[in-house]
Amino acid sequence: MRKARLAVLGSGSGSNFQSILDAIDRGELHAEVAAVFSDVPGARILQRASLHGIPARMLDCAGFRNKFPEEAQRKLAEELKVLGVDLVCLAGFMRLVKKPLLDAFPRRILNIHPSLLPRFPGVEAWKQALDAGAAESGCTVHFVDAGMDTGAVIRQARVPVCPGDTPEKLHARIQEQEHLLYPAAIREVLRNAALGND
Ligand code: GAR
Repeated sequence: MRKARLAVLGSGSGSNFQSILDAIDRGELHAEVAAVFSDVPGARILQRASLHGIPARMLDCAGFRNKFPEEAQRKLAEELKVLGVDLVCLAGFMRLVKKPLLDAFPRRILNIHPSLLPRFPGVEAWKQALDAGAAESGCTVHFVDAGMDTGAVIRQARVPVCPGDTPEKLHARIQEQEHLLYPAAIREVLRNAALGND
């Protein structure tokens, strides 16, 4: 069977992207990363891509603070089709994906979020959990729909909130689980997806 082709979108350090690459290297994911895209100039995820010889480029979001303009999404969707991408993985990507991409990749766009959704959608979910006095938190991989962190859940992992936790400590504990959860969820989706074997 041919390898599934993934595209990864990220705005930050790219540790989840790295966990996907590591799972591929260990033979746990029958996949390859075709390309990486970022909306943040100089983001570490871009450096990680170039270290691994994976094509990477900036998205056309310059001048749009939190938005991912429709035209840029349309252009990206076309590019992903040309690249033969099967699955789009949002890995710390901080803009909302809308119609042009969703229509081009129905149930083929995944996101990882640092909370037990539906609790604490949005930014800095680990801080939200601390502020709310939650006894536990965790992470979720879900299909992306037009809402913010609202799509169908694929897998979740739980972590305790410990006495004396700072936002950084809690986020680090959640990220340890993210790095296991994302490759496992991708494997599950690929197993259930009918990918062409061309
Ligand atoms: C991760 O914790 C991810 O869950 C979160 O951003 C971090 C990115 O880390 N994503 C969101 O908050 C999306 N709503 P990384 O760049 O090291 O993978």
